[in-house]
Amino acid sequence: MRVLGIESSCDETGIAVYDTESGLLGDALHSQIARHAEYGGVVPELASRDHIRHIIPLLKAAFAQANTTWDDIDGIAYTRGPGLAGALLVGASVAAGLALARNLPVLGVHHLEGHLLSPLLSKNPPQFPFVALLVSGGNTQLMRVDSVGKYTLLGETLDDAAGEAFDKTAKLLGLGYPGGPQIAELAAKGNSGVFNFPRPLLHSGDLNFSFSGLKTAVMTQIRKLPSLDEQSKADLAKAFEEAVCDILASKASNAMRQTGLKRLVVAGGVGANQSLRATLDKKIHRLKGETFYPPLSLCTDNGAMIALTGALRMKEGLWPETSDLSFSVRPRWPLSFAVSEKENH
Ligand code: KG4
Repeated sequence: MRVLGIESSCDETGIAVYDTESGLLGDALHSQIARHAEYGGVVPELASRDHIRHIIPLLKAAFAQANTTWDDIDGIAYTRGPGLAGALLVGASVAAGLALARNLPVLGVHHLEGHLLSPLLSKNPPQFPFVALLVSGGNTQLMRVDSVGKYTLLGETLDDAAGEAFDKTAKLLGLGYPGGPQIAELAAKGNSGVFNFPRPLLHSGDLNFSFSGLKTAVMTQIRKLPSLDEQSKADLAKAFEEAVCDILASKASNAMRQTGLKRLVVAGGVGANQSLRATLDKKIHRLKGETFYPPLSLCTDNGAMIALTGALRMKEGLWPETSDLSFSVRPRWPLSFAVSEKENH
């Protein structure tokens, strides 16, 4: 089965072709980071317009890369939500238009399902069941994944997402957007132990997270300093990164203990963080568990994970038999609700 995937939920336009027999055949991506950088965050209207500009050229590029024609495509999957409404509508309407033109079935998939299945695109893919740690700009969740479409929420953030905490802390340190990679770069020059930030909910006994206090702690610390020189910035970034890594690794290992599962899959933009990977590897290996990460290029938003999710859903018979080509987007769409819906439209 060969599925075209379309991602346009935020500031990346991604188009890919995935085949259940031969794997990922084509994957074209355009990132809007440069366009939004001067505003310090994503401007929704600019995002929608940029998706419109790039979506068809990317489609052509993905088809050329995949060396495929429309005759080989069995279905079209697009990100239905969650995300920015206008941005989602670009992908959804292009998907519906192409499906009508080519008489193909179309499926709106959940963005986070794409992220949590994305490690299946790596060279050493995990077997089901596994625990997934989803750490992106908008979400931080621990899920139990038993098979495609069978997900149980174990815990989630009660306020900011981990990526959001990175982005907000970066702003406090005068860094640009997105903050995660810049904090990581700065933290590499910082010293441990100069500053020490709290680890909220570390001993709460459940698998929930809270990150908003951490950003406030950084702000309070900055106010106490006579000046914010480069080394202090690096030391603050280091202490912040260590706190986030500690919290995520500790909750992830608690989730492994509680479920008795031995495989941890990490997905979402923050999963690109090398210190997080090192901290998780250490903790999970101590539990005799294994860690799995998507390739670095597929940690942030991309079309490959949407094409993959669509193809796996089609293979497992988790694709509605009829699609009437009417479409809607779901800017707010809890994953647990999405997978329990009988009809996807
Ligand atoms: O998964 P993603 O592309 O977007 C969402 O769907 O939300 O993740 C973006 C988030 C941003 O908050 C960004 O700062 C963070 O991932 N991020 C990182 C790193 N690379 C991206 N955070 C920490 N370290 C990184 N290396």
